Formats: sequence, structure tokens, C-alpha cells
Amino acid sequence: MASLTIRKLDDTLKAYLRLRSARNGRSVEEEIRVILRDLAEGGPEPTETPAAGSVTVTAPVPRAASVASEPRITLIIGGGIAAYKALDLIRRLKERHIQVRCVLTRAAQQFVTPLAASALSHERVYTDLFDAESEFDAGHIRLARDCDLIVVAPATADLMAKMAQGHADDLATATLLAANRPILLAPAMNPLMWNNPATRRNVLQLRRDGVHTVGPNAGEMAEAGEAGIGRMAEPVEIAAAADRMLRPLLPRPLAGKRVLITAGPTHEAIDPVRYIANRSSGKQGFAIAAAARAAGAEVVLVTGPVELGDPQGISVMRVESARDMLHRVEAALPVDVAIFAAAVADWRVASEGSQKLKKTAAGMPPLQLVENPDILATISRLKEKRPPLVIGFAAETEHLIENAKAKFARKGCDWIVANDVSPATGVMGGDRNTVHLLSREGKEVTVDSWPVMTKEEVATALVSRIARAVGTAS
Ligand code: C5P
Repeated sequence: MASLTIRKLDDTLKAYLRLRSARNGRSVEEEIRVILRDLAEGGPEPTETPAAGSVTVTAPVPRAASVASEPRITLIIGGGIAAYKALDLIRRLKERHIQVRCVLTRAAQQFVTPLAASALSHERVYTDLFDAESEFDAGHIRLARDCDLIVVAPATADLMAKMAQGHADDLATATLLAANRPILLAPAMNPLMWNNPATRRNVLQLRRDGVHTVGPNAGEMAEAGEAGIGRMAEPVEIAAAADRMLRPLLPRPLAGKRVLITAGPTHEAIDPVRYIANRSSGKQGFAIAAAARAAGAEVVLVTGPVELGDPQGISVMRVESARDMLHRVEAALPVDVAIFAAAVADWRVASEGSQKLKKTAAGMPPLQLVENPDILATISRLKEKRPPLVIGFAAETEHLIENAKAKFARKGCDWIVANDVSPATGVMGGDRNTVHLLSREGKEVTVDSWPVMTKEEVATALVSRIARAVGTAS
């Protein structure tokens, strides 16, 4: 049996084979097999012959039908300490029935091995632009186009700088430059690098170029004692953002509606360095904001200090105190729906120290507390501009339903989402939540208890209830 060495074919034929295999989402070898099989079965011989030197693959290239049932992501893993989280991201994407094919930069291989990425993705992993096996059949073109989305996680400062400049000196950058698919970046770097004017310029340029981003979040860095904005978004967040980009044609029942959400804790200053706060992470409020956005709403998110990055497509206002939050909320009106998920401090000190309070021989300084404005109650009682649907939260540590019903009567809102936040539940700061939705049927209060869900699932369920109440969903 004769053997065929592809490398020895003449250039025009090689160019033709590359073009054809890229179009069909196959390797050159597979393409040759198909051609030979067609010939053996008497099928059509290919008639298209390109002019020498005219190899262009026009965008967009449809994906091969055989793999079209599940969406496919090309995941480029950059070289940063967050690369280890990319392995969890592969898992999270696969949970969502998304196929993943990984590209590892040279630096990424210092943190994770191609073997680990391949074991989790169940696919061959690509590392080298000059790998004869993969690049002979224009591997970077296939990686760029035989997918529905390209995700870069972690997107390092260096990788983003190269992208912004259009470099293509390794497989990752060549793939990104050849891409005609949407791109989602999950930046991760030291806060000083993130805040460097060069990185700010590059990120702005990439966003102008239509590249999407998720994160980075605030938090502790790998470098001991360093914190700030630069942590890669969590794998679940990246997977959710990717999923939203892959399946954008979901119904958008809140299209045309404006939704206001409060989230996170508030910080009530005692003096310039101390404050009163609580353990709210803001995750539930942010998840609701993202779900409302995904449902097509215009979303305004007013948040206290949290370690979460701005969700894309949402207008985020960051505040410190309850009074700042109230001002921002009032300025955001009118809205169709207002959801008050923030854990607003009930009290603040009567007179904030203008200097750091000192220890004195006279003992502890007396802290006199005064009540903060109740934002939910204030907005619920507005005569003008009261949103048609006002939703409050009741975070309780005991007698959940009883306390939530009392709050419902007191606040004047339309629904209450009640949840148990006692330490044993792990809700505060955690990823899961068990909620009960209180609403009214005539004068009766009805309680709808939902099973334990992730905060994203709670958000989606709540938004679909909202959509049934005010949106275009039936
Ligand atoms: O009274 P409590 O703080 O338990 O009420 C919880 C609900 O009221 C939440 O929806 C919270 O966002 C809202 N709230 C508010 N302003 C406050 C206190 C609570 O909007 N000052």
C-alpha cells in the first residue's frame, strides 16, 4: 500500500487542502481521507482550485455539522498563577454541556500541564504554533474558527497587550488574531499591573475591538499580603458569562424594562479608618443583576463595597454608606422593578469622627448610634415614581417566615425574598441559597418555598417570576 507524505505535495495543492479542511473544520489528514472516500465511492471530485497564493478563508466559517449540537469553546490558558483555576473552568464548562479544546501558552505550562487539561477536556491540547502535526493543517485557523467562542483564562497583562497590538508570534496570539468568533477574556494579574496605564489602554482598546471581559474581581493576591482588583473571576462566573454569550438567543422577557438592584453591605464610618459593616458578599444581588440583564433588562446596580467586578452590560454604582445608597437609588428612578438585596446597616454613628478616635485614660469613647434611612421602605412608600414592582429581602437567623411576614407588613413592598442566614447555612458569602418568596393574593400572604439552589439559579428563578409579573413572558 502506497504511503502519502503531505509535506511533499506541491504548494498549490497544500494550500487548497488547507483551505478546504479549515472550511470543513477537519484536519488536512481527515480531509484527504474524505476526498479519497468520496472518490472510491464515485462521489464528486472537488472542482474548486484556488489561484496560487490566494488562500483566504472568508468569515464567518460555519462549524462542521457533526459537532454542532453542543457548543464548542477554544479555551486559551495564559501563564499566570490563576491558570490552575482554568482546570476547574474546563469542568464547569463541561457541566454546561460545552465542548472545550485547550491551547496552553508556554508560560501556562509552568502552572498546569497539557496532560491535566487534556484529561479534563477529553480532547487533544495544543501548545505550539510550529508543531508540524497541528500547524501543517493551519491549526491556529481551525482553533480560531472551529468553535463558537474563544475564552482566554487567565488573560494576563502580556497576552492582552499582544492582542491589543495584533501580535501573532505563538499559537495563542495567532489563534486570537485569526479569530472570527466572539472572544471572552478573564483578566488576572497583580492590582498594580491591572491599574497600570498601559493595561488600562490595552483593555479599552480590546473592548473597543468588541472583545468581552469577565472580572477581574477584588481580593487577595497570590503575592503575600497584597490585595486589590486583579483576581481572575471565579470559574463559575466565567462559565456563566461564556454560556450567556453562546446562547444569546434565549427569550428576553424583560427587554425594554429598567431594573434597579441594590447589593452588598454598607460601610458606616466611625472615623476615617474604622467603620461598621456586615458579612454580605453581594453575590446574590450581582447574580440577580446578571440574570435581569440576560433577560434583556436595562440594569442599574447600586452596590456597597464588595469584591466583585462589574458585570458586563450593567451600569454599576459603587457606594459606601446607606445614605449614599439611598441617593443613588433615588437618582436612578423611575424604574419598572426595584430589588433591594443589599444588607444595609441599620445604624450609623451619630457623629463621625473627623480624626482617628484615640484611646484615652477615660476609657472607651461612647458610640452613639442613629438609625439609617430605610431605603426599601422609603421607595415602597413613594407617591410619585414608586416602581410598579418593589421587592425586598429578609435575611433572618431565626423564625424565618414569621419575621419575614412581619417585615413584609412593615416595609410596604410587593414581594419579600426570605432567606435563612444563620452561620450554619453558609449563605453569607457562600454560593448557595434557600429562599422563600412571599407575595400577596388579595389580603392573603402566600409563601412559595424554593429548594436549595446556587445563587445564580435563585436569580434566574426570581427573574422569571418578575418577567411573568411585569415582562412580556406568559
Ligand atoms: O429591616 P431589614 O434590614 O431586615 O430589611 C431587609 C430589607 O430591607 C432588604 O431588602 C434590605 O435591602 C432593605 N433595607 C433597606 N434599607 C435599610 C435596611 C434594609 O433598603 N436601611
